[in-house]
Amino acid sequence: MNPTILAIESSCDETSAAIIKNGKVLNNIIATQSVHEKYGGVVPELASRAHQQNVVPVIAEALNTAGVKKTELDAIAFTRGPGLLGALLVGTSFAKSMAMSLDIPLIEVNHMQAHILAHFIDDPKPSFPFLCLTVSGGHTQLVVVKDYLDMEVIGETQDDAVGEAFDKSAKLLELPYPGGPLIDKYAAEGNADAYDFPDTEMPGLNYSFSGIKTAFMYFLRDQKKKNPDFVQENMNDICASLQKALIRMLMQKLKRASNETGIREIAIAGGVSANTGLRQELDRLAGEKGWNVYVPDFQYCTDNAGMIAIAAHFKYLQGKFSKLDVSPMARMKI
Ligand code: KG4
Ligand code: ZN
Repeated sequence: MNPTILAIESSCDETSAAIIKNGKVLNNIIATQSVHEKYGGVVPELASRAHQQNVVPVIAEALNTAGVKKTELDAIAFTRGPGLLGALLVGTSFAKSMAMSLDIPLIEVNHMQAHILAHFIDDPKPSFPFLCLTVSGGHTQLVVVKDYLDMEVIGETQDDAVGEAFDKSAKLLELPYPGGPLIDKYAAEGNADAYDFPDTEMPGLNYSFSGIKTAFMYFLRDQKKKNPDFVQENMNDICASLQKALIRMLMQKLKRASNETGIREIAIAGGVSANTGLRQELDRLAGEKGWNVYVPDFQYCTDNAGMIAIAAHFKYLQGKFSKLDVSPMARMKI
């Protein structure tokens, strides 16, 4: 079975479409919504409207650049959740209408599963079972991946996601949204030992990132009282020290999870897996622990339809189709 599938992603602030043919992702068209920048975060209502404007041009471009006609499609895939409900509704409704008019199957995809399955778009591919640290703007999870569609969450954040910690800290530094990539950029030039931020101790394999965010807020307040230009004068060192603390917390539980499960095939996924400091630390640990590590190509780290397409491919092969009355789910477990 070598299906040709159109995949649509609209869970947050990226409208994206991709075509997969014979298990190969042919393209990955992404329209990023800049409308949120000035608000310092994603505004759900504006995200839905922007998806509504972008969805047709993005799909048309995906079909055109792949040289695929609508009538050649074997299925339509879409992100069912988790995500912003209004944003998900745009992709879901569009996918349902297309599947109905073309009379072909509809495939719902779980966005968090798709972030992990992005590892099967290009080589090298991890072998089962592997451990995946999924780090995004909405999630921080440790997942044992037993098979393409068989995954178990063994640890997760009890409050903020690590991407949220990056973005909210960046906001305190008066950086535009999303601040994660900017912290990464400044951190590369800074001294990571300049300031010390404490870890939040959590039992087992769970995470907590709300404590460090609050500690960071008080740290900046106190430093600014002494020197109003503290942030401007020390941006690189502040970002490097904060990033180091966040990565240390991520890695601590990842190491524990690897010890407890005995799994040394280690992957990272999600928007924060684009972080250069995290990638470097993972490489260092690979040497120290004898891990095989897997990091997705940058275009498949942050939200994209390529990952929805590969997930849909595996679902198609297993005959896992959705009914046309399916509706999106803002909260959806792996
Ligand atoms: O997976 P994603 O695109 O969307 C969600 O599903 O949430 O992840 C977005 C998150 C944002 O918090 C963004 O700041 C973060 O990924 N991010 C980064 C980097 N690139 C994206 N965080 C740190 N360093 C980066 N280079
Ligand atoms: Zn995502």
